[in-house]
Amino acid sequence: MTEMIRKEHVVKYQIIKVLSDGQFHSGEALGEMLGMSRAAISKHVKAIQTWGLDIYRVQGKGYQLSNAIELLDQSLIQRSSQQPVELIPIIDSTNQYLLDKSKDKESGCVCVAEYQAKGRGRRGREWVSPFGANLYFSMYWKLDAGVAAAMGLSLAIGVAIVDGLESLGAKDIKLKWPNDIYHHDKKLAGVLVEMSGQTGEAAHLVIGMGLNIHMSKTTDNIDQSWTNLEQVFDGNTPSRNNVVIALLAAWKRVLTEYEHKGMSELVERWNQLDNFHNQSIKLIMGNKEVYGQCKGINSQGAILLHTEQGEEAYVGGEISLRKADN
Ligand code: ATP
Ligand code: BTN
Repeated sequence: MTEMIRKEHVVKYQIIKVLSDGQFHSGEALGEMLGMSRAAISKHVKAIQTWGLDIYRVQGKGYQLSNAIELLDQSLIQRSSQQPVELIPIIDSTNQYLLDKSKDKESGCVCVAEYQAKGRGRRGREWVSPFGANLYFSMYWKLDAGVAAAMGLSLAIGVAIVDGLESLGAKDIKLKWPNDIYHHDKKLAGVLVEMSGQTGEAAHLVIGMGLNIHMSKTTDNIDQSWTNLEQVFDGNTPSRNNVVIALLAAWKRVLTEYEHKGMSELVERWNQLDNFHNQSIKLIMGNKEVYGQCKGINSQGAILLHTEQGEEAYVGGEISLRKADN
């Protein structure tokens, strides 16, 4: 598998590669390197800035990125992964790409991006995806057990993400039902499972993850507390390429286990990682709210709520969990 860049993005990606060292590069030098005028370079830089990269210009010195960035390296990731990996640096959505292409792909294949123009969360909400700051990737998975087993997938992947991050030394990573990864009560990552179709019994699923790594705190459009891997590692953040490699290995292991044994092996571990265990929470379902104490998940992947009526189990894609006092 290779790195794929759409024609209109080739020059912009080359400029980013040059600037990724965090040094100054003059418009003239960039122009010479890429066979175009300084004015053309300036136009490309303006477009790149809209992807969330903080590039500024100093008279007489040229362009510089506010921080050097480690770009994703397709061959490095591929060498350490068992499944095919495509790097498409600039994309609308890695989930949408695999949903469109899953017919031609093998189960387990992966698409990774540096920037998503239309990154999405559940129910069509935006997933903020600035260039090079975070990780965005998706895996196509053919689940022979069928659609009914798909519910547990985002829970299984949550466990896999914790496993992968812990293998790199992360501590205190928690889960929020059904699809969020938390650290110190803030959202670190989100998982989105979507289905591209069914053939016979098998369900064709795409599992995507957005994981914040160095995202700028000035980012707008996020209406809840969120955090970065940088905070988790207190500045000593592992390389982005190594994070992808560790996570893909963990995903592959957990998905294979899920395929053979279902949720049974994962329930206990998920419950140990539950950010809201024994806390007062509410479940929001359209305009209905149910209050209770969070008791983790059952073997179907439903969330258990201890209420005045006793223990109740809730399951379904339209439910949002919140702390009771917000
Ligand atoms: P729930 O899944 O419980 O309904 P949620 O608020 O986590 O609630 P999601 O659809 O899972 O909703 O995630 C999308 C939301 O995540 C967005 O509405 C925004 O508030 C937030 N968000 C968007 N981008 C990011 C990001 N990069 N990091 C953290 N949070 C983000
Ligand atoms: C959520 O918390 O709602 C889930 C967010 C999932 C975001 C990831 S980023 C990679 C993949 N592509 C998308 O468009 N969304 C998912």
